[in-house]
Amino acid sequence: MTYYNDLTNDDKRVSIFKEAIIEKAHGLTYDLGTGSGILAEIASKYSEKVYAFEINPLVIKRYTKGNLEGIENVSIIQADASTHTFEEIPDVVICEMLDTALIDEEQVLVINNILDYTKEDTIFIPKLTYDTIQVGFSNISHIVYLEEGRPSFKTYSNEIKYNQVDFSEKINPYFDKDIEINIIQSGTINSILITTYTYVTEELFTGPTPMLNPPLVIPVNETEVNEGDIIKLNLKYIMGGGLNTITANIE
Ligand SMILES: C[S@@+](CC[C@H](N)C(=O)[O-])C[C@H]1O[C@@H](n2cnc3c(N)ncnc32)[C@H](O)[C@@H]1O
Repeated sequence: MTYYNDLTNDDKRVSIFKEAIIEKAHGLTYDLGTGSGILAEIASKYSEKVYAFEINPLVIKRYTKGNLEGIENVSIIQADASTHTFEEIPDVVICEMLDTALIDEEQVLVINNILDYTKEDTIFIPKLTYDTIQVGFSNISHIVYLEEGRPSFKTYSNEIKYNQVDFSEKINPYFDKDIEINIIQSGTINSILITTYTYVTEELFTGPTPMLNPPLVIPVNETEVNEGDIIKLNLKYIMGGGLNTITANIE
């Protein structure tokens, strides 16, 4: 599973989460979806106790244990954090199960569950994400992540913020919105680009990194547009429901 190596080798992703954990971790810290355990390991140096939750027993055996076993104040717990009954109230919740617009991972389901077990001043790392949209032209026929500049995407609009999710509040996973978009160049559009930005803390901010929220290109009905037009796009998806829940239509 080189996936976990790629996650731990993404220096930009790891260093911003490390900075956040050094600043915020204290008392009882939960790391939900711990994977390799890299964030729990960092948190163990700044917390009294860390519980590292991971759903996949094979991941625990192959990756988590190697990093966390032997650290006295860390316990690994195999559990589904989206349904688990937590026994203690954490001071800090780390949950890096982010994905572009929170669609293809279980971040929202897990956050909605842990919120039944937190207190007013529990700190969430990350704190919030927001999403932007652009319309443009791309040579694609299906939904695809934009990685290392591929596929190409030529934008015909400004980048518009259309959604924000704060992890200290319950989240409605059913996203459905009509979005008005200003066209800045005439031509043919056939796709949208969604980009997700993350406030890891109130001050630590990042856009996509190689393993964090790669921008998502989604096909839409081909439409001729003119500079100055305002088009209306209906965008629907289920956060945590997977990429096949996305529909995007220009009206
Ligand atoms: C994107 S990886 C991130 C790993 C780690 N948080 C990090 O930053 O390196 C997400 C991890 O969450 C685990 N996971 C997914 N759904 C889960 C759930 N419902 N409960 C607990 N773990 C889950 C996956 O198996 C995977 O190891």
